[in-house]
Formats: sequence, structure tokens, C-alpha cells
Amino acid sequence: MDRIRIVGGTPLRGTIPIGGAKNAALPLMAAALLTEETLRLTNLPHLADITTMAHLLAQHGTSMHLNGGEGGVGSASGRVLELQAADITSLTAPYDLVRKMRASVLVLGPLLARFGACRVSLPGGCSIGTRPVDLHLKAMEALGAEISLDEGYINARIRDDLNGRLRGGTIMFPAVTVGGTENALMAACLAEGETVIMNAAQEPEITDLVNCLTLMGARISGIGSNCLRVEGVSSLHGTEYSVLPDRIETGTYAIAAAITRGDVELVGANSAALGAVFSALNECGVEVIETSRGVRIRADGAEIRGIDLMTEPYPGFPTDMQAQFMALMATANGASMITETIFENRFMHVPELCRMGARINVHGASAIVRGMPRLSGAPVMATDLRASVSLVLAGLAAEGETIVNRIYHLDRGYERLEAKLAACGANIERLRG
Ligand code: UD1
Repeated sequence: MDRIRIVGGTPLRGTIPIGGAKNAALPLMAAALLTEETLRLTNLPHLADITTMAHLLAQHGTSMHLNGGEGGVGSASGRVLELQAADITSLTAPYDLVRKMRASVLVLGPLLARFGACRVSLPGGCSIGTRPVDLHLKAMEALGAEISLDEGYINARIRDDLNGRLRGGTIMFPAVTVGGTENALMAACLAEGETVIMNAAQEPEITDLVNCLTLMGARISGIGSNCLRVEGVSSLHGTEYSVLPDRIETGTYAIAAAITRGDVELVGANSAALGAVFSALNECGVEVIETSRGVRIRADGAEIRGIDLMTEPYPGFPTDMQAQFMALMATANGASMITETIFENRFMHVPELCRMGARINVHGASAIVRGMPRLSGAPVMATDLRASVSLVLAGLAAEGETIVNRIYHLDRGYERLEAKLAACGANIERLRG
């Protein structure tokens, strides 16, 4: 299994290109199932999760054509993927693929709405919590689906009295769910009549999906708000769409600059989507400067102060940045309280950060972090995607050598991570095997 070796202590300086957003690309790829015409996605990141989604869609019978690819370190690689779901041969999303990636459940809404039935494996638990899909299923039921569970699979079909087409309805999410909102949106596009989605997630990735669906012929209003209205249409058509820049990749490299007290420009970053992260960075003493190409993060000579924060649905501070921010707070002057409100088990990086000398105590959903002037390198174990990258960030700041094990998690969400960091002066390499 590959590992990453880092010798910390070098302030990062230079530029890092930001790729397309994984969490926008995955639902956009699933949206290809809504039409028999070609959906052409550009600025697609080259990541393991994207490959898993491509395998799943291919397994349903979607034909795919991939162009472009490995750009140099200085350029965003932005692949182009054409997907055409004209000849769907299977309506089953099998366990073997779904268990690899929870976002596979995003094929549920499109398959059900276009083909009237589907069978999708339940994703099961994951390292950051139980993560049920009950809200996805309730949303499908509100649109006229009949759902049953057997042998670990979700069986969904349109109710017999509806003549093969979902019927618009009101979906009131009791809790904000990103994936649930995406499944509801995609299904509602092909339903008969109007659907109102209340307490919808407002993440930029939802807006990206809405924009693409609109280009495919969907009629959606309330864009960017927590109440989306969808006027169903009988069919959608193909289009071309560019995936938005990855805000979590951007935030992660912003913290890489901050934690090494460096100065890095993130080229292609979209600051508008990072309000809560950038204001937290500002508050703790990091300069965030808009540039013509993206955003510059300056922390050279800065004294980083400990601050408190809480994860929340967008536009609040993202749970996907919590582990990285905690690594930064471990090196801050003063204490910080970080509260996780989205997932119940998302502090798995804490014991690993503590192995590097961090002083962190967890009390329920909150972690108290007492900053230290210097962390020390150590062998550590990655547990999930964002936890893994927080260990890389800590390693960049630590004295001595850090070896991060189980880095396949990182490959799910960070493209050419070592190359991008090394180009800014980090002493980092991948150890194969
Ligand atoms: C998406 C992101 C993930 C991010 C998360 C929260 C993708 C591919 N993944 O995941 O990176 O961390 O949003 O911003 O976009 N829940 C239920 N029942 C459901 C659905 C969700 O109880 O049916 C709960 C979850 O367990 C969790 C919370 O709702 O506690 C939020 O989950 P959700 O927004 O659905 O996350 P994902 O879409 O899986």
C-alpha cells in the first residue's frame, strides 16, 4: 500500500492550480442518466471517486468517452468526459461498487424517474458515522415511489396508479442533506407537475447541479436558496457543462499555506464559495487576498491565533474542512474549540494528530485544541479522506519525518497532491508499495 513521506518545516511558496470539484462532478455524472442524449462534462478532476462513478454508470450501460487529462503541475488538468445513457442495460447498482463510495446512491433518483424502477445497494456505514439514506427514500416516496428493502438493496418503483411517471410533490427535509437534495432534484425534473423541495441544501455543488439540469431543459427556480421549485418536464436533453472549482481542495491548500506560515496563490479558486473558511482564516491571523487568477493566502510572519468554530450546512463552515482546520489550530497560539454538528464520528484524526504532539481533548461533539509552537513528525494512519489530508498538513508543519499510511483515501479526493505541494517547496514524496 502506498504511503506518503513528508519532512516538515518548509514554508510553502508558489502557486497551486485548483481542479474541478469532486462533490459537484459526482452528481453531474449521475445526471447523465436522465437523458438519452450526450452530457459533456469539462473540468472533471482525475480522482478515484470519479473512476468509481464512471464504473457504476458503465455498468448500467452508459457509454463514455474521456479526453484530456494529465496537465502539468502548473495547470489544472481538467478532463472532458462525454456520457451517453441511450442504451441502459441494467437498473441495478451493485453492492461491490456502492460500498466503495456512498455517492453511488445518486443514481437512485435519475434511474427511478427515467426508467420507472431501480435496485440500488444500501451504502452501509462508513468511517465517519452511520450515514443513513432514509431521507433520500422519503423524498422518492413523496414523488410517488414505492420503496422496499431486501437483501441489503433498495428496490424503488413508481406506484402502479401513476402510469409510469413520478408525480410532483412537496418534500420537506427534516435535516439538511446534500445528497438527498440532489436525488430529489434529479427525480423531480422528470416528474409530472410541480415539486417543492423545502429545507434544501444550499451548497455550491447543488447550484452547479441546478445550473446543469437547467441547461438540459429542466425548469427549476429558487436557485441558491433553501426552497427549490421544480416544474417537471417529460424529457431532458444533452448539454455541455464545466464543473465548478473544488472549494474543499482550495480550503485545504489555503490551510497548507497557513500551517507552514507560507504564501501561496491558489489559481482558479472561487472565493465566493469559501466565505466561512476564509473568514475563519482571517480571524486567526491569515491574510486572504483576491487576485486576478484566484486567491492568495499569506501567513509568512503571521501569528496564528486559536479561534472557535462549528461546522454547519452551507453557508456555514464545512464539515469537510474541519479536520484540516483542526491541524492548523494544533499549531496556533492559544486554545480553540471545534464543534462538529454534521457527522457523529468525525474526530478520527484526533488520536493521530495527538501522536504528532498535538494537544486535543474531545468532549462529545466538541474538540478542545491547545495550540503548540511545533508538532513533531510521526508515523500516522489515514482513516477517511479529509482526516488523511489533515495529517499531511500537520506533517508539513511538523519537525522531522511523518509517514502517512493508507493514503488510498487521499486519492479519492486530491489530484496530484504531492506534486502540487512539492511545487511550492514541500519535502513530500509518495512511497510505492
Ligand atoms: C455530502 C458530501 C460530503 C459532505 C456532506 C456534508 C458528496 C459526494 N459528499 O455527503 O463530502 O461531508 O455532504 O456536507 O457531495 N443524513 C441522514 N439521512 C439521509 C441523508 C443524510 O440522516 O438520508 C444525515 C447524515 O448522516 C449526516 C447529515 O445528514 O449526518 C448530512 O449528510 P448529507 O448532507 O446527506 O451528506 P452526503 O450527501 O452523504
